[in-house]
Amino acid sequence: MGNIVFLLPSMVFVVLLHNSVAALSAESPTTTTDQLALLALKAHVTHDPQNLLATNWTNATSVCNWIGVTCGSNHQRVTTLDLSNMSLVGTVPPHLANLSFLSQLNIRFNHFHGSLPMELANLSSLKYINFGYNNFQGEIPSWFASFTQLQSLFLYHNNFSGVIPSSLGSLLNLEKLMLYDNDLEGHIPTAIKNLSNLKWLYLDNNKLSGQLPSTLFDHLPKLQHLVLEVNLLFGRIPTSLFKCQELQVLSLSVNALEGSVPQEIGNLTKLSELYLYSNNLTGEIPSIIGSLPFLEYLDLSDNNLTGNQFDTFTNDSYMGNLGLCGFPLSKECSNEQNLEPQPTKSDEDGDAVNWKFSILMGYGCGLVCGLSMGYIVFTTGKPWWLVKVFERGQQKYDIRRKISRSGGS
Ligand SMILES: *[C@@H]1O[C@H](CO)[C@@H](O)[C@H](O)[C@H]1NC(C)=O
Ligand SMILES: *[C@@H]1O[C@H](CO)[C@@H](O)[C@H](O)[C@H]1NC(C)=O
Ligand SMILES: *[C@@H]1O[C@H](CO)[C@@H](O)[C@H](O)[C@H]1NC(C)=O
Ligand SMILES: *[C@@H]1O[C@H](CO)[C@@H](O)[C@H](O)[C@H]1NC(C)=O
Ligand SMILES: *[C@@H]1O[C@H](CO)[C@@H](O)[C@H](O)[C@H]1NC(C)=O
Ligand SMILES: *[C@@H]1O[C@H](CO)[C@@H](O)[C@H](O)[C@H]1NC(C)=O
Ligand SMILES: *[C@@H]1O[C@H](CO)[C@@H](O)[C@H](O)[C@H]1NC(C)=O
Ligand SMILES: *[C@@H]1O[C@H](CO)[C@@H](O)[C@H](O)[C@H]1NC(C)=O
Ligand SMILES: *[C@@H]1O[C@H](CO)[C@@H](O)[C@H](O)[C@H]1NC(C)=O
Ligand SMILES: *[C@@H]1O[C@H](CO)[C@@H](O)[C@H](O)[C@H]1NC(C)=O
Ligand SMILES: *[C@@H]1O[C@H](CO)[C@@H](O)[C@H](O)[C@H]1NC(C)=O
Repeated sequence: MGNIVFLLPSMVFVVLLHNSVAALSAESPTTTTDQLALLALKAHVTHDPQNLLATNWTNATSVCNWIGVTCGSNHQRVTTLDLSNMSLVGTVPPHLANLSFLSQLNIRFNHFHGSLPMELANLSSLKYINFGYNNFQGEIPSWFASFTQLQSLFLYHNNFSGVIPSSLGSLLNLEKLMLYDNDLEGHIPTAIKNLSNLKWLYLDNNKLSGQLPSTLFDHLPKLQHLVLEVNLLFGRIPTSLFKCQELQVLSLSVNALEGSVPQEIGNLTKLSELYLYSNNLTGEIPSIIGSLPFLEYLDLSDNNLTGNQFDTFTNDSYMGNLGLCGFPLSKECSNEQNLEPQPTKSDEDGDAVNWKFSILMGYGCGLVCGLSMGYIVFTTGKPWWLVKVFERGQQKYDIRRKISRSGGS
């Protein structure tokens, strides 16, 4: 009771303060600029199934109170626009370029279409762009190079076509570049090698072709995820890749890469996922792979590799490599030299055994998967809960889940 009496005056004060700020900003010309820009965007939204903009983006309140809008605390200018997952249909108008303090622009999971107006190049404060899961078309504009502060560029799952512009190589602050699930073609630009802060590079599920430039990875010391699967890449795996000592996820699967898997793969001691399936790789599997301390998922299937197995992985990881022999494959080696790396103790769990296993099925799950599970439990004698079961579709989903978890704003 006493508390309420005590609180009342301060609440009145807060309300008054709030109103005066709103009144001030409504009169300030810069807020009107932002307001006009957002109203223009609203006018370009042709379908808003939840009526969010229609009911919420009204002149009755300052834009800073509009849904999805965040303003800077000092200047009351729009700094973040987050309209993700609102099922909006529409286009992006040039007026958006007038939000000159915009730092984060997230419209993923909508149905925006058309191409991006060049005026947006003026948004030089942008650090985060997420246009993922929309229907944008046309080329990735070369003027994206003007976002000099950009750290994250997410254009995944759209209809972007043409080549990846070399100008992206000037985005020296870029940490995450995700262009997967588009219609991109041509070579991977050598200019990517300029991005010395890059941690994630996802270009998978496009039509990229050509060889990987030999110097591409010379100066990408922070690279953690490199996912180039399902493209038309050929040639050898460049040795410069093995300078990327921070790599954790490496997928070059479903391309036409040839040559051997270099011994230097042993340099990538932080690798936890390695997918090279469905290529044209030849030669021996470097035995050092069996000693990578954090490797949990391995798929080398559908290649032309030879050599011995590591008994820490199931034979499914090697399926389609006719030259393979040794446990767990049924074919015996003539000169048996099986590697038997000891299971390592997990640092976090203390007594839990960090046993490396994976099942990576070549084609779907179903009966084959069921059989393989039984096979592992039977042959290794490990308790079921130690065995990590992975199916290809699920693997992709899992990588995606990582993306959407950290990709949001
Ligand atoms: C809202 O404000 C803008 C800019 O001040 C103005 O152009 C527009 O006519 C206003 N809309 C309504 C419905 O009052
Ligand atoms: C608009 O949405 C925001 C955030 O949900 C809410 O705080 C505000 O009251 C809404 N304004 C109107 C006029 O509905
Ligand atoms: C999108 O929003 C709907 C509810 O509006 C929710 O069920 C769904 O999980 C959201 N999806 C994502 C990817 O955020
Ligand atoms: C905002 O941008 C549009 C289109 O780029 C331009 O025509 C207009 O003059 C700008 N409006 C304001 C208030 O700055
Ligand atoms: C960017 O803004 C400047 C003024 O700040 C203006 O002169 C120029 O026309 C704008 N460019 C585009 C592409 O909108
Ligand atoms: C891409 O465009 C094609 C037709 O040009 C369309 O069928 C498809 O749905 C589009 N995909 C996306 C993700 O917008
Ligand atoms: C790459 O960086 C160098 C300097 O570090 C610069 O001269 C060059 O223009 C950059 N390349 C691109 C495509 O931005
Ligand atoms: C692999 O690591 C060794 C020792 O750390 C280093 O000398 C060598 O240059 C590395 N190889 C590559 C290709 O980065
Ligand atoms: C693999 O290499 C062989 C021999 O060079 C070639 O005939 C074949 O087309 C290649 N396969 C793929 C999928 O690139
Ligand atoms: C695998 O390699 C061997 C020897 O290099 C070659 O004879 C054979 O055609 C290759 N098989 C495939 C499927 O590329
Ligand atoms: C993998 O192991 C299963 C079960 O022992 C066996 O039936 C199958 O032939 C093996 N696959 C290969 C390629 O050796």
